[in-house]
Amino acid sequence: MSHNTKRDREFACMAIVQAQLCAPDSKKKVCPKVGAVATTKDGKLLGSAYRGQIKKGEHAEYTLLERILKNQKHDLAGGTLYITLEPCTSRNCPKIPCAERIVKARIARVVYGMIDPNPKICGKGIRYLEEHGIIADRFPRNLIDQLEAMNAPFLQSVTQDKRASLSSEKAAPRPVSNERDSNKYYRDSNKYYKDKDTNEKKRLNIQSQLVKDFEQPVYDSIIYGKSNLNVLDIGCNNGRHIMARLGDKQEVQKIIGLEYDQKTVNLANKEFGAGKGKFYQCDLENDNLANFIESVMKKNKIQSFDIINLSMILLHLKNPYTIMRTLRKFLSFDGLLYIKDIDDGLNYAYPDSTKDFERIYQICENNETSGCRKSGRQIYSCLRKCGFKNIKLERSGLNSIGMNRDQKQALFDTYFSFIMEDLKIMRRRHPSDEKIKEDYKWYSAIYNSKNLEERFHEDGFIFSLGFMIFTASE
Ligand SMILES: C[S@@+](CC[C@H](N)C(=O)[O-])C[C@H]1O[C@@H](n2cnc3c(N)ncnc32)[C@H](O)[C@@H]1O
Repeated sequence: MSHNTKRDREFACMAIVQAQLCAPDSKKKVCPKVGAVATTKDGKLLGSAYRGQIKKGEHAEYTLLERILKNQKHDLAGGTLYITLEPCTSRNCPKIPCAERIVKARIARVVYGMIDPNPKICGKGIRYLEEHGIIADRFPRNLIDQLEAMNAPFLQSVTQDKRASLSSEKAAPRPVSNERDSNKYYRDSNKYYKDKDTNEKKRLNIQSQLVKDFEQPVYDSIIYGKSNLNVLDIGCNNGRHIMARLGDKQEVQKIIGLEYDQKTVNLANKEFGAGKGKFYQCDLENDNLANFIESVMKKNKIQSFDIINLSMILLHLKNPYTIMRTLRKFLSFDGLLYIKDIDDGLNYAYPDSTKDFERIYQICENNETSGCRKSGRQIYSCLRKCGFKNIKLERSGLNSIGMNRDQKQALFDTYFSFIMEDLKIMRRRHPSDEKIKEDYKWYSAIYNSKNLEERFHEDGFIFSLGFMIFTASE
């Protein structure tokens, strides 16, 4: 990957200039202004284009790759494409989506500006590229702001379309709030687990062990005195988390898990499929989530769920409201929704006279690689808006008091051992961001010197992480 950040910025600006040249496709529909620039793998400019440059409605990527650079495909291989909007992932046949076209052109890296607000694409274009081994980096924030301002009418029209389609949705069986409520909880955050991501695997393992003591009493009180319980686990990963908590409980009859990553689902079925567990691949953010759950229930002869488990998943979702609203329909009348999530606003460390821990919290606050870090505080209001009742905040803050050395070490590792990797990703995403560079340098030094770790284990030191556990009934 080229880290010539000055050149990156220049090409990104060039793509914006191209976008400015776009003329409206029609009087009826507001279309985005999109520009594209391609370079060779050595950073030599190959060409540029904008939407509708040659023919009305033609996407900038298509114009550039298929019309302008048609005979230069060999130069494109391994090169970089700068696009002001994420590429599309679906087109009417026989047209090929731009994301697919980019993969076919063997481009190695895409630097993009805006995420497509259209819910049918929104993030999928970038995900498609990454799944096909293409490095996806983002324009610097100030250039994205510029693009969003230029495309304000388009952004507005998509929001209006979303509202219109929501109001024409067939009536839900239970009262729900409107899309304005939904938008309130919207955040630019989602992350899928990949089995090959060893770092994330390690993080989840450590975290899972550590929080078991913290949350098991809540699970135990939920199932106490009950029988034949059916559990739905949302974002179940490899199933180990839920199976370790409820898998061996006689009160529990069946555990159904939904997870994005197919390979992880296969692993879960291999390990637990012969017993109570059944795991399915599913994107929770798909419009047809309710239909999917219904079909799984039918297959497993389940009428409704007694426990719906959302453990460390809401922070990864773009819109927790939509998911919670859908899930409420599937909760039995005396069932419980269980939510464990995080809010970094509840983190603290003391003593911290050098303010190093405070600085680390601030670094993590800006870390966009591990979900919405202030998700926890949204949950109560979101549950209320969705119509849930008997909402309880069962636990708030997991701290080091009373922990033995190994547990403290696990708490330390849960939080501190992954920051460097996260900062590396942030550096790749924002190569020209001086603050991230500086944070990375500072953090590497302080983490590697073991100074933090020693202070963490000192007698009288307290460290608290913002885990929150909620329960609610329908
Ligand atoms: C942080 S992990 C939590 C795993 C487990 N629930 C636990 O508490 O250890 C979040 C999981 O949700 C999955 N996930 C994230 N977004 C998803 C989506 N839109 N649809 C389905 N699964 C998703 C991720 O792939 C990952 O396995």
